[in-house]
Amino acid sequence: MIKTRLLNNRIEIPSPGLGTYRLGRNDEEVSRAVRHALDAGYRHIDTASFYDNEMPVGKAIRESGIPREDLFVTTKLWGSDILEGRIERAFDESMRRLDVGYIDLYLVHWPVKGRIADTWREMERIYQSGRVKAIGVSNHLIHHLELLLKEAGIMPAVNQVELHPYLVMQELQDYCQGKGIVIESWSPLGSSKIPLLADPMLQEIANRKGKSTAQVILRWNLQKQLIPLPKSSDRQRQRENLSLSDFNLTADEMTDIDRLDRNLRTGIHPDAITF
Ligand code: A2P
Repeated sequence: MIKTRLLNNRIEIPSPGLGTYRLGRNDEEVSRAVRHALDAGYRHIDTASFYDNEMPVGKAIRESGIPREDLFVTTKLWGSDILEGRIERAFDESMRRLDVGYIDLYLVHWPVKGRIADTWREMERIYQSGRVKAIGVSNHLIHHLELLLKEAGIMPAVNQVELHPYLVMQELQDYCQGKGIVIESWSPLGSSKIPLLADPMLQEIANRKGKSTAQVILRWNLQKQLIPLPKSSDRQRQRENLSLSDFNLTADEMTDIDRLDRNLRTGIHPDAITF
């Protein structure tokens, strides 16, 4: 059984979730990978309008036959929709493409310079309309959150950021934890751009535990109260990434993994994004 956590508005969120960015080369592959993940036990699927896959993700969810209330679906608002003043319309379009009744979590995908506070006001309005169970942000660093919180009426439930043992961002973790904002990790396995899975120290811990390096990283996420969103289109690896309950990392092992931090980003820096 997949575990759940509580968001700051008492909504349950299953952890881990399935990341879906570039999950397949076409809609059919995306739908199949999501279907396999749901069969394997995933109950939390993370997409975004930018991923251009909301339709096949929604289709797999509808065809799974799993009761809607047992599933958790996240999508995200893209920056150009903010700049073009079409936040409400972008939300409606995501709703239509997903076609799953409601969205569990709606996130501001990236901070848009100069627009952070007013974007959040519109997110609050969408939340108050009852079509989404929770709202949050993605790729927001402390200085972005400070701007947002100056004028916010509702605390973001989530901040989804690139986070893995080579990019720990402990200060951001502590800040969010202090505010009751749950951090979700995207590219928790470091993506194919960096050799995180071949890290000798992680491999040593994995060998000691009889688990894979990926499982050690995901377990580290859970023990740090992070919600990892591993992406895999492979059935076997999807199952592997859910099988995290039969071992524990010791406090020393957790610290050793924390110390791998080298502030290494595989994606764009949140202050450098353009739309
Ligand atoms: P695959 O889909 O073939 O399983 P990202 O960091 O961009 O989300 O991508 C994660 C990468 O890690 C993907 O290339 C995915 O490939 C791979 N991956 C996912 N789970 C595992 C695992 N358990 N072991 C090794 N590689 C994995």
